[in-house]
Amino acid sequence: MTTTQQDRYDHGYDFVVVANRLAVDRVTDEDGTTGWRRSPGGLVTALAPVMAESDGAWVGWHGAADEQLEPFDHADMHLVPVPLSGQEVEDYYEGFANATLWPLYHDVIARPEFHRHWFEAYRRVNRRFAEAAAAVAAEAATVWVQDYQLQLVPQMLRELRPDVTIGFFNHIPFPPPGLFSQLPWRHSVLRGVLGADLIGFQRESDARNFQQAVRHRLGHYIKSDRIHVPADSRATDEGSPLVGFDADPSRGTAARRLSAPTAEDGEHHIAEARAFPISIDTQKIVELAERPDIIARSQQIRRELGDPETVFLGVDRLDYTKGIRHRMKGYEELLQDGDLSVGQACLVQVASPSREGVESYRVLREEIEGTVGRINGEFDTLAHTAIRYLHHSYPVEEMVALYLAADVMLVTALRDGMNLVAKEYVAARKSGTGVLVLSEFTGAADQMRQALLINPHDVDELKAAMVTAATMDPAEARRRMRSLRRQVVSNNVQRWARDFLGRLADLKAAAR
Ligand code: F6P
Repeated sequence: MTTTQQDRYDHGYDFVVVANRLAVDRVTDEDGTTGWRRSPGGLVTALAPVMAESDGAWVGWHGAADEQLEPFDHADMHLVPVPLSGQEVEDYYEGFANATLWPLYHDVIARPEFHRHWFEAYRRVNRRFAEAAAAVAAEAATVWVQDYQLQLVPQMLRELRPDVTIGFFNHIPFPPPGLFSQLPWRHSVLRGVLGADLIGFQRESDARNFQQAVRHRLGHYIKSDRIHVPADSRATDEGSPLVGFDADPSRGTAARRLSAPTAEDGEHHIAEARAFPISIDTQKIVELAERPDIIARSQQIRRELGDPETVFLGVDRLDYTKGIRHRMKGYEELLQDGDLSVGQACLVQVASPSREGVESYRVLREEIEGTVGRINGEFDTLAHTAIRYLHHSYPVEEMVALYLAADVMLVTALRDGMNLVAKEYVAARKSGTGVLVLSEFTGAADQMRQALLINPHDVDELKAAMVTAATMDPAEARRRMRSLRRQVVSNNVQRWARDFLGRLADLKAAAR
């Protein structure tokens, strides 16, 4: 170990990221030896340079149950694995995070399940993450907590380490107060998140929903995105949230506080809640899209599909929020109506495996695969297929080849925090060709106004958009694509991280 490494181990790290998943994936070589590889996702890509510059540590679960690993260093990052038992994977990850919060925060597209023992596991695991972060953070460090799996961590960490500055970013939507109110542990969750100094959301409307929930449930004073959080309302245990405020404890609904707290109201901190829309590593996608081997691969993909006039593409985690069924229904009807025909058109659907331990995901997989089988059975010819369905994850090189091969990208999510696939497709289309059909229920739709925006519940509108996209005048397509690309080129994920961390640094300086 070098002196600098020893020093960091002794004094802690100035910048700590806390996320459900560690920033590395375990890989096994051909000879059977295992090692770690940096995860390919945008978050890791954006934060890796910050980690390298500022003595960074990343706290997260390494993805295997019942395994305790020592902290280790990998590619300029100090990694702190947080262990989860098999039971905790079921109750905290598959249960509370992905069968309670995920459907609740995505407009209850699936029915959220509320189980007290799931929330107990969520609280216990969140505390473990908070303790791990508290143990590695240097004096006055900056700690950035990520996403809905860890909403109690900011407040737990504030209690353990009042000296650190805390950011929190919610990658998924924050639901309207009426839906959020269903959560039996709504006060705990709000108080947990409010432990942060800066709270980031994907869209303005998510930030507004959060502020409304805070105002309505806790009665905190809010002005210009700044929430005054009294110290005596901070505990993350459920119970009366209303101490010190004019409220109706019997209903658990706090009255809105109309004036700013005074010294008599006691100690408080400010939590600022606003939108920081995330993006992609645009440069990386652009570079890959220019690589001759990837261009050649995209041409090969089209040939293998039988050189159709129009390749429609869908790329999603196999998740009920993504509107894959709606897309297939629209496509099937277009084939039935004769507006599209097999051979002339082909739909490539990449559905990467996801959360297979959760019942609603298993049911969805059966439904989707049944639908694909039925549509292909009815419309395939010996030479051509209607839907090429791929239940795999692919490396980014293959994804970019697919983006280059696709004439029309279909993003039909029923609700999506952002949707980075839409941005990646646009980044890859430097030629200016290609059309993006985009659900208005994605965060991306707030920024990508030149896409063909659709309501995926309206099958006729979706079908019309698919036909318009397939037949769009090339000059019109180029004009739209140019405008979309400007947005994605000037707002990359590096800028997102800079904006968030810059604002957090300002708040830190102002609080001194
Ligand atoms: O969108 C939220 C998110 O947690 C992403 O950060 C992640 O890529 C995706 O969902 C899949 O999450 P997981 O496989 O960890 O459940």
